[in-house]
Amino acid sequence: MARHLITSALPYINGIKHLGNMVGSMLPADVYSRYLRQRGHDVLYICATDEHGTPAELAAKAQGVPVDEFCAQAHEAQKAIYDGYALAFDYFGRSSSPQNTEITQHFARRLNENGFIEERAIRQVYSPADGRFLPDRYVEGTCPHCGYDKARGDQCENCTRVLDPTDLIDPRSAISGSTDLEVRETKHLFLLQSKLQQEVEAWVAQTSEAAPEWPQLSTSIARKWLTEGLHDRAITRDLDWGVPVPADTWPELAAEGKVFYVWFDAPIEYIGATKEWSDAAGESAGHDWKSWWYEAADVRYTQFMAKDNVPFHTVMFPATELGVREPWKMVDYVKAFNWLTYYGGKFSTSQKRGVFTDQALEILPADYWRYFLIANAPESDDSSFTWEHFTATVNKDLADTLGNFVNRVLSFSRKRFGETVPAGSEAGEAEARLGTEIARLLAEYEEQMEALQFRKAAAALRALWSAGNSYLEEKAPWLEIKTDQDAAALTLRTAMNLIHLYAVVSEPFIPASAAAMRTAFTLPDDTATWITPTQATTLDTVPAGTPFTVPPVLFAKITEEELDSYKERFGGEGA
Ligand code: 2FM
Ligand code: ZN
Repeated sequence: MARHLITSALPYINGIKHLGNMVGSMLPADVYSRYLRQRGHDVLYICATDEHGTPAELAAKAQGVPVDEFCAQAHEAQKAIYDGYALAFDYFGRSSSPQNTEITQHFARRLNENGFIEERAIRQVYSPADGRFLPDRYVEGTCPHCGYDKARGDQCENCTRVLDPTDLIDPRSAISGSTDLEVRETKHLFLLQSKLQQEVEAWVAQTSEAAPEWPQLSTSIARKWLTEGLHDRAITRDLDWGVPVPADTWPELAAEGKVFYVWFDAPIEYIGATKEWSDAAGESAGHDWKSWWYEAADVRYTQFMAKDNVPFHTVMFPATELGVREPWKMVDYVKAFNWLTYYGGKFSTSQKRGVFTDQALEILPADYWRYFLIANAPESDDSSFTWEHFTATVNKDLADTLGNFVNRVLSFSRKRFGETVPAGSEAGEAEARLGTEIARLLAEYEEQMEALQFRKAAAALRALWSAGNSYLEEKAPWLEIKTDQDAAALTLRTAMNLIHLYAVVSEPFIPASAAAMRTAFTLPDDTATWITPTQATTLDTVPAGTPFTVPPVLFAKITEEELDSYKERFGGEGA
């Protein structure tokens, strides 16, 4: 069985992320990792905070704390939130770690030895008003391609094209707004991506077409970039905070305090964080980080990210890895997402528009968000978050279809038959039909999860929950009990087996509720992590006589008043 390496795009250190960020990277990666683990695969899920670059420096300055201290605190704050969402990373690292410094510097040295790095004198934007060179993203202006007037010097948010600050029309400093910008000469390292164009092209063609094919979104973005041609790119910056250029190779630049560009060291942190994972556990734990990354032919590597990150992961990082000329693991499958919008508009961290991950958890437990977000993941297109849609989904799918089923079955059985699963008659024709249907839906669910089609997987899961409701309505044990106790007991026992099955298969989506369903039954040796086709068909994992308890209501319905209050607090339609 293959080992699965999974990474989600590293969240920037500054600021708490919004729900759009979560659904486009960490959450689906977690759902997929959990699923694969349950299916018995060896899985390593790695993430980290992306800590370098100007935004961290400026945020620290604004708070009046040293940047390393700012990052340490911000890392803990983000980690606490991700714990709140039950994101089961094997390791959540930090791109400012010594491990990342070591590997980033190693990559740079190797690229240099192989002729893919060149020192060039460049003319860079300097702002006398700010007293500093301006990093690309701190030069703003009008995009020469699409005319968007808030384009940043590194990339146009509107048309996603990568830019150079000098491409911008009417440039200004994003720090002070000053338009008094000079261009001064300074030396930087350039990654000669143009020399790697053909290799990257061949790699993209081969990897994106392997079965299963990359999603259209990933392939089309990669192809567009390659068609436009790979340009050599400056990979160093004049900043205080970053991975230092190694003095053994570039003494002059190191003395000037140059550091690597954040987008050079960030993807390398996928490897760095894996080493952090090994180092943190100590030797006895046997965490062999290198076996996951170096000569790791048996590893299947899946990356999760939003579409703006695709060029960096399908073209630039692969170019880096190829140029290193060492057998580092390259991505096999790039799962990319479109945007989650807030009432059709942008979620915006800077403009505080939309729902942030910490606020969401103050309102409702993680499972509500996990289910809603994945069931509406922006896979084939952008999808819109509205409080109305969220409320309707929670009330219908989670409260009515799943939660109410669980509560109704267990409460009714306890009331009529006591605190153990009743025996009743032998399974009949309705149970056989139900078993066939459950087995079919389960196969559909597995197929969609394996294809990383999250919305479709959520639909199959919902259909599994609905099948239980249909069965219960058909059998109506509350009527059966009036004439045939054994018939009612059979229905309830079958329904309880469904609850146990739901506990197992719903775990990737709603882990806390799944645990509550599972522990409702006192089953010895209940360690199975998945359902066999026979178990799905016969529905007899929980035998008669098994003690059970009735868990507290799994999902509370959102009331009209609550809906109104959320809209009021966050801004609803037209926000
Ligand atoms: O766009 C972002 O949020 C970046 N911090 C993603 C980095 S992904 C990886 F390459 F590190
Ligand atoms: Zn543009």
